[in-house]
Amino acid sequence: MEILVSGSRGLVGAALVPALESGGHRVRRLVREGGEGNDCIVWQPEAGRIEREKLAGIDAVIHLAGEPITGRWTAAKKQRIRQSRIAGTRLLAETLAQLSPRPRVFLCASAIGYYGDRADTWLDEDSALGTGFLAEVCRDWEAAADPARVAGIRVATMRLGVVLSRHGGALGAMLLPFRLGFGGRVGTGQQWWSWISIEDVVGGIQHALTAETLSGPVNLVAPQPVTNTEFTHALGRVLRRPAILPAPAALLRLALGEMADGLLLSSARVRPARLLASGYQFRQSELTPALRVLLEIQD
Ligand SMILES: NC(=O)c1ccc[n+]([C@@H]2O[C@H](COP(=O)([O-])OP(=O)(O)OC[C@H]3O[C@@H](n4cnc5c(N)ncnc54)[C@H](OP(=O)(O)O)[C@@H]3O)[C@@H](O)[C@H]2O)c1
Repeated sequence: MEILVSGSRGLVGAALVPALESGGHRVRRLVREGGEGNDCIVWQPEAGRIEREKLAGIDAVIHLAGEPITGRWTAAKKQRIRQSRIAGTRLLAETLAQLSPRPRVFLCASAIGYYGDRADTWLDEDSALGTGFLAEVCRDWEAAADPARVAGIRVATMRLGVVLSRHGGALGAMLLPFRLGFGGRVGTGQQWWSWISIEDVVGGIQHALTAETLSGPVNLVAPQPVTNTEFTHALGRVLRRPAILPAPAALLRLALGEMADGLLLSSARVRPARLLASGYQFRQSELTPALRVLLEIQD
């Protein structure tokens, strides 16, 4: 397939693109700047600009781009988180809808932030929208893909959980403090973290490219979520370090502002119902073995 990928240099994109290429696909990258050659297509999502003429012949689109959600959520940062996703998704969806022939599939990233903070309730793709900033962003981000859907393109909005990779993201940020023995639970530790290994993010997206039954929301999380306390203990055990220094919620709120509640303290116990129903087989279903593989640590 000829596949267009936005956000190709991010945590997910950097793992996905080589996997697609070694699977025999040809990848074109949608970049804001710094890309050269025929395989790079330049866009400025918020200005509504995209090199349309270079999009001919595309079979599939995987849209990952958006302002990183880590960092202090100032009003300006929140505006960038929101606008980069909504403007980018709408521009892509409208552009794809006008192509002839149109691509067959549009896979658009979203997040389990859609469900908000939901204590111990099991959540699947039919669960209701939550409340809060991230839930509203996810709702509008997914809706921005509608022009592609209306044009008859198969659209799946991939609600990613906490992506585990040693190259960055949540696990990448936790490694140094844990290795130094400063690891511990976050807040009460009772909040559910629906994690997924980077291997299954890549595998799940590749599966969704050809799984014709998959459209609409698709949770991209491992089948066995854990509480933050369980996560902390598993990481401490795998690294053979104590993990007993809790990070109190009040301190996190002081250091990180609203992001602490939106990301670290929020609880979402999410099931990958549609991915499993469509026949996807997870490479990593359980956290401890997944961490050993990710961190290349022997038993
Ligand atoms: N990682 C996770 O745990 C996680 C969890 C839930 C949801 N997600 C979502 O999944 C997608 C991919 O995640 P990721 O971890 O790979 O993200 P990432 O590492 O933050 O990379 C996202 C990419 O977005 C582009 N980008 C950055 N700022 C932008 C802006 N202001 N406007 C437009 N594009 C911008 C960059 O691509 P270029 O420089 O190539 O343009 C960047 O490589 C994101 O939308 C993210 O919100 C991730």
